[in-house]
Amino acid sequence: MGRLSDAGMKLGTDIDDAARFLWAWIEKPLAIGSVTPSSPSLARMVAEQVDKTLSGPIIELGPGTGPVTEALVKHGIRPERLILIEFNPNFCDLLRARYPRATVIEGSAYDLEDRLSGKEIAPASAVISGLPLFTKPPLERVALLRTALARSLPGAPFIQFTYAVTSPIPRNTPGILSHRSAPIWLNIPPARVWTYRDISRMT
Ligand SMILES: C[S@@+](CC[C@H](N)C(=O)[O-])C[C@H]1O[C@@H](n2cnc3c(N)ncnc32)[C@H](O)[C@@H]1O
Repeated sequence: MGRLSDAGMKLGTDIDDAARFLWAWIEKPLAIGSVTPSSPSLARMVAEQVDKTLSGPIIELGPGTGPVTEALVKHGIRPERLILIEFNPNFCDLLRARYPRATVIEGSAYDLEDRLSGKEIAPASAVISGLPLFTKPPLERVALLRTALARSLPGAPFIQFTYAVTSPIPRNTPGILSHRSAPIWLNIPPARVWTYRDISRMT
């Protein structure tokens, strides 16, 4: 009975999140970039790219209603290690209620240095992005990647999922090693997970 009511509550939460997300998309389709939150399969694939044995925070850009955040916690990341940077104030309120021990920062992740300035933040063990990067020019995407990697431990990944076939960071970007996952079909739409690392800081 307990398990059934847990499953019922989870379904209710998922439906509420889907409705919140759809509403946010209707208001700002380009900024939201998707009509539904990521599926558990995609969120798990993203979380599994994080080496949980490393110390340091995990910075998530564009967490939305938090499916990847939830997968990170299930993956064994303590919520106090999470820094969540989200543009949408309603999503920020939701994330603060769900993850009171995480740091939720409201504002644009593209101004990453400004968002993090004045806070004592150790080098990140990973930066995860759910941002719809293709809505920005390539130079702006690469600038965000470089800022994020400079804020990270040597060799740490910048993890990005995308519904596109091509890499959100141009493949010929100097000094960046990229890796593409197999497609995750259990997501609407199907997606891939890319990881990018700074070659000069890899051992
Ligand atoms: C495709 S959704 C992904 C949401 C969530 N990570 C998921 O997997 O379901 C993109 C998210 O990025 C947020 N976003 C868009 N532009 C942003 C920006 N400049 N800074 C921070 N968040 C932004 C949107 O509000 C939305 O929550």
